[in-house]
Amino acid sequence: MSIKDRTPTPPDHSAKPERDGNAYRTWRLDDGYQTMVLASRRERLPQCVYWGTSLPDGECLQTIATAYGVDVTGGMLDENPDLSICPEAERSFPGQPGLILCGADGLPLLPRFVYHSETQDENGISLHYLDADNRLRYTAQFLADPATRIVTVQASLASERPVHLHWLSAPVLPGPQQADEMIDLAGRWCGEFQLIRTAWSPGVRFRENRTGRTGHEHFPGLLIPCRGATNVSGDAYGVHYGWSGGHRMIAEELPDGRRQIQFGHASGIETAPGHTFATAPLYATYSRDGLNGCAAAFQRHLRDRIVTMPAPQRPRPVHYNCWESVYFDHKLPVLKEIATRAADLGAERFVLDDGWFGKRDDDTGSLGDWDIDPRKYPEGLTPLISHIHALGMSFGIWFEPEMVSPDSNLYGAHPDWALGGADQILGRQQMVLNMALAEVRDHIFGKIAAVLSAYDIDYVKWDHNRVLPQPDAAQTRGVYALLDRVRKNFPDVEIESCASGGARIDFGILKHTQRVWLSDSNDALERLRMQHDAALFLPSIVTGSHIGPGNCHTSGRVLDIAFRAWVAAQRHMGFEMDPRELTDREADILRSVTNWWKHNRDWMMRADILRLDSVDPAVIAEQQLAEDRSRFVIFAGKASTSLQILPRPLRLTQLEPEANYELTLINRDMAPKLSRGAPILKERAIRVSGAYLMNYGVTLPWSLPETMYVIEGKRA
Ligand code: DGJ
Repeated sequence: MSIKDRTPTPPDHSAKPERDGNAYRTWRLDDGYQTMVLASRRERLPQCVYWGTSLPDGECLQTIATAYGVDVTGGMLDENPDLSICPEAERSFPGQPGLILCGADGLPLLPRFVYHSETQDENGISLHYLDADNRLRYTAQFLADPATRIVTVQASLASERPVHLHWLSAPVLPGPQQADEMIDLAGRWCGEFQLIRTAWSPGVRFRENRTGRTGHEHFPGLLIPCRGATNVSGDAYGVHYGWSGGHRMIAEELPDGRRQIQFGHASGIETAPGHTFATAPLYATYSRDGLNGCAAAFQRHLRDRIVTMPAPQRPRPVHYNCWESVYFDHKLPVLKEIATRAADLGAERFVLDDGWFGKRDDDTGSLGDWDIDPRKYPEGLTPLISHIHALGMSFGIWFEPEMVSPDSNLYGAHPDWALGGADQILGRQQMVLNMALAEVRDHIFGKIAAVLSAYDIDYVKWDHNRVLPQPDAAQTRGVYALLDRVRKNFPDVEIESCASGGARIDFGILKHTQRVWLSDSNDALERLRMQHDAALFLPSIVTGSHIGPGNCHTSGRVLDIAFRAWVAAQRHMGFEMDPRELTDREADILRSVTNWWKHNRDWMMRADILRLDSVDPAVIAEQQLAEDRSRFVIFAGKASTSLQILPRPLRLTQLEPEANYELTLINRDMAPKLSRGAPILKERAIRVSGAYLMNYGVTLPWSLPETMYVIEGKRA
């Protein structure tokens, strides 16, 4: 699919011969669903003059470009400065510029770019612009992907002389005029992916993450629902910046009402003068199916274009992770017993978490000393791994490669390998290694490789439990390089990105990893909300979700096993409680939900997760719709008690109106005693049309808070 340069086809009154000053150079990007049109005059940087639903093939781009021009009235310049893909301060642009840099002498450079050339192929286009005075070259790239509907844009800058870069935005996209608000994301430890709605208003909505990792606090994404858009309907736009080192977002409404969206690395994180710089890819999508259209595009793009699984055909294994059962207290007989019980419950991969190396009896030390602790494992890991393999499970192990404890042998030998000053504030009693140094990467690679070579290990949980002393892009590039090297040398090993839970989740890290640990909160109630919101960007296949202890360690809540199990079954399922704590009833429920998940995981891992517009705010509901649209599952979680006494119908989405669907409430046995009536789903399966389900909906039996109903749907 295509970029089409329509400049030479100006058929009507707006047609002018090439470049008379008022004729536009135009480019058109189509993916069969959305169209993006760029246009430039007078050899200047282009503006994105249209982005939205597909335009007809014959649309005159000269007219579109001309019609984009807005009026001029009192108190304004005589012409509106372009809102280009990289707004230039020197061209009277009244808002935030797309590029801020200075020469090696520290003096600001104020570029004015002029068209130089372009290259294009069937998927995209690169535009090259030069600033001869400052000897700079700016390149913007636009790529369409008809299968996922993600447009990937990226900018780079080359300078003949070394320059200091403060800010480079990925190609600037217009903020829709039809929107009243925007949604970006905040969060905290155990409370990731919180949606923040802010009204568009004159000035800047500015988010900058200066922690040096993606962070709990500022997920690098933005969603813009146009007026009236909901989860399931209306126009919406979404962008995500695929970078793990901290980003800056600018959503600005100019004094004249035009709006721009900028995303790039956090400012000033290129700490050395250089000749070349590049932004990370900015993934952008337009949807006419509400926020779900954006969510499905991001989910598919991440799953099919970003993440590479070592064995794509292999079903995602049910995990057992021992963290919340034993923490640092590793005792071989206990771990073996836990493994035996976990396997009996249905686990297929056992992950040995923190505590196996150095003298790691708590979180105060030993990071960097990646040698197996002979006190805990006198015969190495073989006795444990052999036991786990004999149970039919594979084995995974925890590392926190970028960190060093001040008490470690590594720090003693190489204090200069730590980032930041010796008097810095520690985080979780630890420091960060300088991953920009090749010798540091070599050393850490050697340590990881020694463990992965000595044992049959198919999984690494790669943790990162503190922020950096200062943001530095070289650190992130170093981590990516190390991850690449590990993967190249151990291609069968999967890697999970964890950072105190979900503090390093983005499409940048997921190019190098295969799973994320969404949160350290295993509280199913918190997870229900978090998973719902994270699904705006993340598919099930990468989203780890575990059943934690009965008494949740991070919230103190006590939740029933059925609720905990079904919430975990919404994503890539695992267990993290001590299985010895389970009653027979709990073990039975866990086994049965796990079996259900195993029967359904293959299609669910490739399903679109569609958020439903529940009219009852107490119900958080989603519909996972199979790739071939022949089946779906509804997870309707009751987060609290409802205001009204009886459940309201829950409307489904994206079904075929004419088709009939058979609906079964698969866990109707959990309807409580207080559900005294006979709503049909409590009694039996029903067969109704897609039109009915999307317009009236399904009415569930009454339920207690902190419970989940699960409905399977199949096209008849
Ligand atoms: C933080 C992670 O998020 C936890 O799951 C666990 O691996 C600990 N670190 C181990 O220190």
